[in-house]
Amino acid sequence: MKLWGGRFEKSTDRLVEDFHSSISFDRRLYRQDIRGSQAHARMLGECGIISLEEAEQIIAGLEGILADIEGGGVQFSVDAEDIHMNIETLLTRRIGEVGKKLHTARSRNDQVALDVRMYMKEEIRATQRLLAGLQRVILDLAEQHLDTIMPGYTHLQKAQPVTLAHHLMAYFQMFRRDMERLQDCFRRTDVMPLGSGALAGTTFPLDREMVARELGFAAISENSLDAVSDRDFAIEFTAAASLIMMHLSRFCEELVLWSSDEFRFVEMDDAFSTGSSIMPQKKNPDVAELVRGKTGRVYGSLMALLTVMKSLPLAYNKDMQEDKEALFDAVDTVQKCLVTFTPMLKTLRVKNEVMYRGAKGGFTNATDVADYLAKKGVPFREAHAVVGQLVLYCLKEGKDLQEISLDQYRQFAPAFEEDVFRAISVEACVARRSLPGGPAPDAVRQSINHGRAWLEKNTV
Ligand code: ARG
Repeated sequence: MKLWGGRFEKSTDRLVEDFHSSISFDRRLYRQDIRGSQAHARMLGECGIISLEEAEQIIAGLEGILADIEGGGVQFSVDAEDIHMNIETLLTRRIGEVGKKLHTARSRNDQVALDVRMYMKEEIRATQRLLAGLQRVILDLAEQHLDTIMPGYTHLQKAQPVTLAHHLMAYFQMFRRDMERLQDCFRRTDVMPLGSGALAGTTFPLDREMVARELGFAAISENSLDAVSDRDFAIEFTAAASLIMMHLSRFCEELVLWSSDEFRFVEMDDAFSTGSSIMPQKKNPDVAELVRGKTGRVYGSLMALLTVMKSLPLAYNKDMQEDKEALFDAVDTVQKCLVTFTPMLKTLRVKNEVMYRGAKGGFTNATDVADYLAKKGVPFREAHAVVGQLVLYCLKEGKDLQEISLDQYRQFAPAFEEDVFRAISVEACVARRSLPGGPAPDAVRQSINHGRAWLEKNTV
């Protein structure tokens, strides 16, 4: 008979049995469920709601079940519906009647809220650690490429020269914000819901603070209706994960482009590339493409969670069981992507020379020619127009801005002098952008130092 079977005259239809069971996926929460139940039982004992001896029996029984599950010796049953009732059934089978006291002053509604929060606290931390690992690789790589000049782009058209270090550190900043979002999400996940019962708390004099302390929660929830129907924390995580994926995906897109024959800025390590079954010459950036592709999965999970929760009346509704697969998939996907992307980046071969050549072409120093004139007193708008004419002239002549003579320069504006050539080398273009946040090696070194200090302080 079902744990809730008392008021039923008929047994559940086989179809429904299959349909509403969540054990196939919520089995993942077995450890949290057991630890939560042990804390609950200990508290029931301390508060005199069950005897201390009964509490001890329950705690020991649960410990045995945990060992059995981890030893692979437990078959969960669809009949027992979910992880909560599976473990309760196993407990009663193991220690007899006293096992039936565990569920005193508790509902699966506050229990599942507890389990998912405990699970998410661990996974947020795990995700943060993976993110920190990636950030460390970015910092190291940036440090090696402070002087590696490359073209910066807007509209994917060459714009102004930057350095690879600067480009990489842009991603560091994105992942830093992601880290802060996770940290913030952790704070709101770190709230203990047990004691909310099914929806309206309980008549038993529970010590909720004790349970929170025992399980390492920073606070207890303040409204029982909210505590059993809140999945904001799961949605927040999935939103933060979506942003991480979006950042990874942009990074991947660039690596895919950069490893094409058209760019040839980088080459992926063989260990992180794959071949073609028909074209023998191919070396494909599959890992980067897959990360880019998996971004869609995580966005999908976010949409699924938002949509499941939309319009649900208070408090618990069975719809909410649908939160888990989407959440678990988002956790698995973002973590797997971080795990794979990080060594791929670390082993990336950078072709400094090609990047440098790229930075020299495409008139990336045109702005600097205009700035040169502006510094000589020509109004910038006028200088812009002059350099536009110069570029047009160069295009017709098939030359770069460094390759035309001073006389030719002077035909466009008399303010040009011999020092123009030094002012517009790509090295000078980069070096002069030394204000905070700029690409000059000194400025980027500063930002790398800040980044390292920040990472040190925010280790979890
Ligand atoms: N398996 C359920 C879930 O994941 C646990 C809570 C069930 N509560 C209920 N009243 N049916 O949401």
